[in-house]
Amino acid sequence: MSRSAHPAGPRHADVFTEGHYSAPATDLNVLDEKVWARTVTRDTDGALTVGGIEVARLAEEFGTPAYFLDESDFRARCRAWAEAFGPDADVFYAGKAFLSRAVVRWLQEEGLNLDVCSGGELVTALDAGMPAERIAFHGNNKSVAEIERAIEAGVGRIVLDSFQEIVRVAHVAQQLGKRQRVQIRVTVGVEAHTHEFIATAHEDQKFGIALADGLAAESVRRALTLDGLELIGIHSHIGSQIFDMAGFEVSARRVVQLLAEIRDEHGIELPEIDLGGGLGIAYTSEDDPREPHEIAKALSDIVTRECESAKLRTPRISVEPGRAIVGPTAFTLYEVGTIKPLEGLRTYVSVDGGMSDNIRTALYDAEYSVSLVSRSSDADPMLVRVVGKHCESGDIVVKDAFLPSDLAPGDLIAVPATGAYCRSMASNYNHALRPPVVAVRDGEARVIVRRETEEDLLRLDVG
Ligand code: LLP
Repeated sequence: MSRSAHPAGPRHADVFTEGHYSAPATDLNVLDEKVWARTVTRDTDGALTVGGIEVARLAEEFGTPAYFLDESDFRARCRAWAEAFGPDADVFYAGKAFLSRAVVRWLQEEGLNLDVCSGGELVTALDAGMPAERIAFHGNNKSVAEIERAIEAGVGRIVLDSFQEIVRVAHVAQQLGKRQRVQIRVTVGVEAHTHEFIATAHEDQKFGIALADGLAAESVRRALTLDGLELIGIHSHIGSQIFDMAGFEVSARRVVQLLAEIRDEHGIELPEIDLGGGLGIAYTSEDDPREPHEIAKALSDIVTRECESAKLRTPRISVEPGRAIVGPTAFTLYEVGTIKPLEGLRTYVSVDGGMSDNIRTALYDAEYSVSLVSRSSDADPMLVRVVGKHCESGDIVVKDAFLPSDLAPGDLIAVPATGAYCRSMASNYNHALRPPVVAVRDGEARVIVRRETEEDLLRLDVG
């Protein structure tokens, strides 16, 4: 589901239309820097290095499959987002993309805030020392226990997602003798051009309260009557892996219209709006993501313009990028196992992981690229499908790609741009042991999430 999943856009897979496989235009040894973490290069032998360390050494020390995360790239992206939005806006990293205690510390050091959407993410954030006031708590069905924990901890904001939750959060806050800062998540009715499962602002889905039929306005009315709540703003998240800013513009416009209606009805100007996350990244060479400063400018221009015309004070803007920060910073390293050429079709290359470490291909028809990284090769390209080792024919990691035809068992191949929603959505299907996440920086590699062991598996199985 790179941009090519846009129904009107070019499809990467068209290159591979049955019987018309055109060979790649580029040299397979050349890495497209758009899809790789910033410190990734090839050394003189053609082996890939990240943070100055060769992949063969990483594979030897940490095993495969494994995710390798370029820490300086992650930090640089955090800084780029914070600088692009400046001191009058807030950037919340969306922890669902990938969260660990090390990540929480990096975020703090780089001045970002954190969006969590479950008790588990909240506890990780708090445990790693993220100040609660820098945490936003999301979710369409937060439990009372999660709400209590968030309010007790003093989270900076809870994003309310339904009429019932407005009452529930107000009630818990009151019982705890607190007044909780909240935003209301609205669905603005935008059709985001992305996969259906990750589009969130059209009306027929589970998130938010619709602007249509006055529902959002009614939710504001109710929130304003409840003592336990301090309504600070309106939130809108339109979906994920989006390249076209038009959807964000419509969303911003509709949210500002709601602010104007609130001002007209209640005589108050809410001080904040949150435009969510969802900015796309390059999974393949065909994707052209925007830079944070372009995104910041586009969003702040539209909000400022709309506020001027509605005669509103410009609210403080916040955004919640997850994928755009962590996605490009990591790759998954696999060892090639069996190779099965299917005459006239393609060659199936099996790796030692699969849908348990990257469910996105199976779930969203996501497109990825792949490279041979343990050496260079001048062999002709062959059309491959990279598949995992799971007992399922949909266990596909990279649907269509080219790899050198001298590929052999034991070679290392890597799939770039797997930093977001791969480890965080990893499963134990077939009792696979979830891979580690290894942070690499300045010639040093350290495990930040360790590999699962058979003991971990058996520990949960209490007999
Ligand atoms: N804010 C809210 C309220 C969200 O629901 C999400 C993502 C984000 C921010 C961050 O979106 P990002 O910038 O990372 O696209 N598992 C799917 C993505 C689901 C995203 C859910 N919400 C995938 O692998 O593409």
